[in-house]
Amino acid sequence: MDYFTLGKTGLKVSRLALGTMTFGDDWGWGADEKNSRALFDMFMQAGGNFIDTADLYTGGNSEKLLGKFIKETGTRDNVVLTTKFSYNTEPGNVNAGGNGRKNIIRALEGSLKRLDTDYIDLYMLHTWDKVTPAEEVIRTFDDLVRSGKVRHVGISDAPAWYIAQLQTLATERGLEPLATAQLEYSLVERNIEHEFVPMAQRLGTSLMAWSPLASGLLSGKYKPSNNEVKGEGRLATVAGSGNPAFEKFSDRNFKIVAELERVADHLGRSMAQVALNWVANQPGVSSVLIGATKVTQLQDNLSSLDFEIPKDLMEGLNKASAPEVKNPYSFFTPAIQGMIHGGASVGDKPSSYYQQTLIQGEGAGVTADAD
Ligand SMILES: NC(=O)c1ccc[n+]([C@@H]2O[C@H](COP(=O)([O-])OP(=O)(O)OC[C@H]3O[C@@H](n4cnc5c(N)ncnc54)[C@H](OP(=O)(O)O)[C@@H]3O)[C@@H](O)[C@H]2O)c1
Repeated sequence: MDYFTLGKTGLKVSRLALGTMTFGDDWGWGADEKNSRALFDMFMQAGGNFIDTADLYTGGNSEKLLGKFIKETGTRDNVVLTTKFSYNTEPGNVNAGGNGRKNIIRALEGSLKRLDTDYIDLYMLHTWDKVTPAEEVIRTFDDLVRSGKVRHVGISDAPAWYIAQLQTLATERGLEPLATAQLEYSLVERNIEHEFVPMAQRLGTSLMAWSPLASGLLSGKYKPSNNEVKGEGRLATVAGSGNPAFEKFSDRNFKIVAELERVADHLGRSMAQVALNWVANQPGVSSVLIGATKVTQLQDNLSSLDFEIPKDLMEGLNKASAPEVKNPYSFFTPAIQGMIHGGASVGDKPSSYYQQTLIQGEGAGVTADAD
């Protein structure tokens, strides 16, 4: 396993992070305690150190199980522990959710208790609440870092302008910067490329990709036939739930799955491995969040970085999955940019600028993040 420094911090994290949204079978598509423990052990034995949860996941059970496994294995110091707040945990209490200072502190105390620890390595805002001023979030984050209860801070599922505002305030006011932005990114969901990838590269927020297999779709196990999709797993269980992250069965997506299958066959790799490898090698991506309900899946996914997708096959994948370029992004395409630069091709920086520097550590490669 290679380790990378996250964003503008010195925090060393594995390139594959373990997502624990499946820890606990409370939502009907997760793993029971025994299975979750096996997943945790396998990830740690493979050299992974970056583990993600949230107070929301399986109603707090994910945090409880993770805290228990860390305690039992005596690995608190080895793990880079991430959890998140935003979602309301007490219906009827308007301040028991959202991103205001009152809820951030309340939520943190709850997470510390469930995780059975006295600090969080990376504390993240889970989802933009549309109302809390950026000044309040970044000031509270900095206070928590100073208090020692939190080491680093990050954000997930928010507009790029809001993340950029937080990062700019942190930089200008000498406060703790955001170490990462966690967003959905996969071969079927590439919309973050318009705003978030350049943001991560220029503002040093880095990117952590969630649902890199589109909730299992990109493993190839779901097959459309006669207006019906067959296959067992989360997407079949939650079909029709209305959660946009779970609405993955579409003609467009199955065309991407077909191209992925062609590439995977060519390389003699599983479709999941190729899909994860694709995400991990996209610009701005620091870490890919892998999720599993079974150890066989995790085993498969942990072997996704030890090969390269050749250029011609990469082009096939990129073409099949290209996101739609809508207004105003259509003005940033080569055709219009050529009109601005007098027909010349002008890049932001020479390609060597974003190349990574390998700092050889003892027994493990530690690399400064691409941004
Ligand atoms: N910030 C956010 O808003 C947000 C949102 C979602 C997730 N996340 C984080 O990202 C993590 C990963 O997300 P995700 O679970 O949606 O990731 P994913 O990789 O898109 O989906 C993982 C699921 O796909 C199936 N699967 C995985 N590997 C497989 C394989 N090799 N072969 C066949 N099926 C396979 C399993 O589900 P089945 O067995 O049920 O098919 C597994 O639970 C989460 O645990 C969480 O930490 C964050």
